[in-house]
Amino acid sequence: MKLREIAELLGSPGERFHRSDALSRCYSIDDLARRARRRLPAAAYDYLEGGGEDECTLRRNRSALEAIEVTPNVLRDVREVDLAITLFGARLPSPIILAPVGGPRLFHHDGELAVARAAATAGVPYVVSTLSSVSLEDIARAATSPLWFQLYVWGDRGISRNLIQRAQQAGYEALVVTVDCSVRSKREREMRAGVTLPTPRLTARSIVEGARHPAWAWHFLSGERLAFPNLDVGGDSRGSMQELGRLFDGSLTWDDLDWIRHSWRGPLVLKGLLSADDARRAVDLGVEAIVVSNHGGRQLDHVPAAIDALPAVVDAVGDRAEVLFDSGVRRGSDVLAAVSLGASAVLVGRAYLYGLAAAGDAGVERAIEILDEELRIAMALSGTTRLTRGSPVVGSRPSVASE
Ligand code: FNR
Repeated sequence: MKLREIAELLGSPGERFHRSDALSRCYSIDDLARRARRRLPAAAYDYLEGGGEDECTLRRNRSALEAIEVTPNVLRDVREVDLAITLFGARLPSPIILAPVGGPRLFHHDGELAVARAAATAGVPYVVSTLSSVSLEDIARAATSPLWFQLYVWGDRGISRNLIQRAQQAGYEALVVTVDCSVRSKREREMRAGVTLPTPRLTARSIVEGARHPAWAWHFLSGERLAFPNLDVGGDSRGSMQELGRLFDGSLTWDDLDWIRHSWRGPLVLKGLLSADDARRAVDLGVEAIVVSNHGGRQLDHVPAAIDALPAVVDAVGDRAEVLFDSGVRRGSDVLAAVSLGASAVLVGRAYLYGLAAAGDAGVERAIEILDEELRIAMALSGTTRLTRGSPVVGSRPSVASE
């Protein structure tokens, strides 16, 4: 281990300097992931990184994005490349949105507040999870860029109605209902690592891991206890993730969209669809956007890579709703591929979590900066100056019509 890293781990006075120095030497999201891995105990890293069962879909998300070929259009004037898009009538500086994530204080003590600060600096929307580790109101007070609220609809619909009202009152602009979590999936990597949220279990292994990651352990033990403050469900909110899993009771159906639609004033987004039929049905029921997503490979294993499911959903929806995309994005060229295949914008999950774990808000900012810069380069080199849904570039797999 280098001296610089030891100083950082022990939180020396030079930590901030070394951290920003080290961050600027993170050239890719994978570089941030390596830093995150060094800073986090194994259980926290496995919770961040893992997927469902054999993680086939987790790997497939990456291999499908890597298999996309871009055929550039040459000899275009690409001096002015514009990443901006318009979504729900608002202009956004780039097509990147920060995806909802449960329990970010496990990755960095500032958790959602750090993410909200970084989102504000970059001007990108941040989708706050039902399972956030800071209350949705506290995040709203800290945020200055658009916030959306992600809803898990629990068996007890009263909890969900209450969350919708609170999000509306706190000024959240869009409601994102996640529909690929009818039950919690089997995440064996988490089971083996002994992940229990929000309260980590004290075992010989977790004590050793804490000792190996003193900066993380210090903040974790001296800070406010990790919890899911949005949930008013008594003891369950403090129980294990398995206990919490009981709240996903599998009873959510299309009929529920009706009361959700009527309870929410503003754009309604369904997250976690992969089939064209489901997308058509969602749009018929009046949703403004869908997120083609397999939850980053964390739910049902063996579902298609989300990028492979995107073109059929785009065809089915046409211009009746916005189609957003997530699962597997690690490069600006992945963002360009998704927009080329018809996505209006792209959510990123792990990409910014690596930054968060590596260095708090500065790390999240760095993750967004890396993706933006790579997107700008990919656009210029492919002869694209504007992100018009479905129109720019060009892939030979999956097939996309050339300009
Ligand atoms: C998630 N995701 C997620 N989605 C959601 O709707 N509510 C949630 O609370 C969470 N929690 C969560 C925790 C962690 C640690 C991860 C990595 C992901 C899924 C997330 O919103 C998004 O769909 C995926 O992260 C996208 O895939 P990538 O970008 O991580 O590959």
